[in-house]
Amino acid sequence: MDFSIKACDWSKGEANGFLTGKSDVIVLGIFEAQTLTGAARDMDAATKGLISRVVKAGDMSGRAGTTLLVPEVTGIGASRVLLVGLGKQDAFNQKAYGEAVRAAWRVVLGSKIGQATFTLAQLPIQDRDGVWAVRAAILALRELTYKFTQMKSKPDNGARSLKKIVFSVDSADEKAAKVAVKQGVAIANGMDLTRDLGNLPPNVCTPTYLGQTAKKLGRDFKLKVEVLGQKQIEALGMGSFLSVAKGSIEPPQFIVMHYQGAGAESAKSKGKNAPIVLVGKGITFDSGGISIKPGEAMDEMKYDMCGAGSVFGTMRAVAEMGLKLNVIGVIPTCENMPAGNAVKPGDIITSMNGTTIEVLNTDAEGRLILCDALTYAERFKPAAVVDIATLTGACIIALGHHNTGLFAKDDALAGELLDASREAADPAWRLPLDDEYQDQLKSNFADVANIGGRPAGSVTAACFLSRFATAYPWAHLDIAGTAWKSGAAKGATGRPVPLLSQFLIDRAGA
Ligand code: BES
Ligand code: MN
Ligand code: ZN
Repeated sequence: MDFSIKACDWSKGEANGFLTGKSDVIVLGIFEAQTLTGAARDMDAATKGLISRVVKAGDMSGRAGTTLLVPEVTGIGASRVLLVGLGKQDAFNQKAYGEAVRAAWRVVLGSKIGQATFTLAQLPIQDRDGVWAVRAAILALRELTYKFTQMKSKPDNGARSLKKIVFSVDSADEKAAKVAVKQGVAIANGMDLTRDLGNLPPNVCTPTYLGQTAKKLGRDFKLKVEVLGQKQIEALGMGSFLSVAKGSIEPPQFIVMHYQGAGAESAKSKGKNAPIVLVGKGITFDSGGISIKPGEAMDEMKYDMCGAGSVFGTMRAVAEMGLKLNVIGVIPTCENMPAGNAVKPGDIITSMNGTTIEVLNTDAEGRLILCDALTYAERFKPAAVVDIATLTGACIIALGHHNTGLFAKDDALAGELLDASREAADPAWRLPLDDEYQDQLKSNFADVANIGGRPAGSVTAACFLSRFATAYPWAHLDIAGTAWKSGAAKGATGRPVPLLSQFLIDRAGA
């Protein structure tokens, strides 16, 4: 699909510019009110009162969620007009805009329309501008058109009619709207990659497959990529990561991807080019290990690499946007399986930084692979480290499937991530990380236990990680509830790629 921008200069009397361009449909918003405003009023004038007649006849009330496709329109460049109800103008916020946009795209995608002119991004949205609106509309469309058919023997990829979308925006927004198109497409492409990796079955998407994916991403987007195998991981002393990998016949991989958009760090740059490091949990299948999980929905544990998937997706988005900053993606990846040689409850292992860990539950494996990756990240002298993990079922109990759990000691970093999450409409909620919870991780025999009991399970998991993230500002995102959907709509969501991409866009000052 091809997205472009058409600017109209109201001050020069070009307000109707969007009306003359050739297309199959003009998408037009109608508020629940008696009077037509903005693009709707211009359209009404150009079509000799067609829009007022339709509204007067009661065929389009402007109620939120309603749509009306008006065929055989004359007097304008398009042959149809799609009217979209927007609800009350004084309640038209980010959420209402999103709902109107999705309703519009559903109608457009359900028809034979090949070319659409989209005017909803010009509407007055509370606290958001036209540039934001363009990007949100692209992401909504790409979300609706995503399909995972790679594993079907006869994929029903019926050709899609919709090829070209023209966003009509105010002239003052033209330059920024073009950036918004670039960002929207890059973030959508990143999310598609994240979703594909998540949806692939665990017999295909193995640690080795993720290593190959990293190398391909490196070739396609000029990233420096290192994929370390068993021997190199051993040499680094990652005893905690390796204890999880042990029970599987799939070899573990430790993936490092470098995107250098700000140039190399040097004595002269004095830390100004210090990278942001993203660490993603890459358990390609979590059976629980010896502390084996119950059978119900165990297939969904193929999604236990969605943190890693979001690092891939975000690296892709950042590279495609060409952001001027340095980003490093770090992914420890392995399977968590039961076996004669698997790690057992009671085993004590030694992590890369020397901390000894008593494994009381082999199903709390995410933190065991992440802690060594967090230690490894120290070598980059990062400006900040964000880890992303489907870490705890307890996070779903706490926050459900709407908010990602955010943990950070650093208020400034937490604030940045929360701002990015709101801007990207990829919600996150901060949970506590007080030192008081650390007591739950006491071990009688080692420095720390890998579980803290049932109370505040997500917090104690974050507390465990915090012990290894001491050398830099750090935040942890628990995406257990947000990385994928279960049930009839089972599938990866691509979250939190929008949040992470926005955070990096903001850091790059783009
Ligand atoms: N990958 C799971 C967490 C998870 C479970 C995410 C269900 C999404 C849905 C993680 O490795 C795990 O098993 N965590 C345990 C920790 C417990 C043993 C302390 C959990 O949440 O039950
Ligand atoms: Mn587990
Ligand atoms: Zn897991």
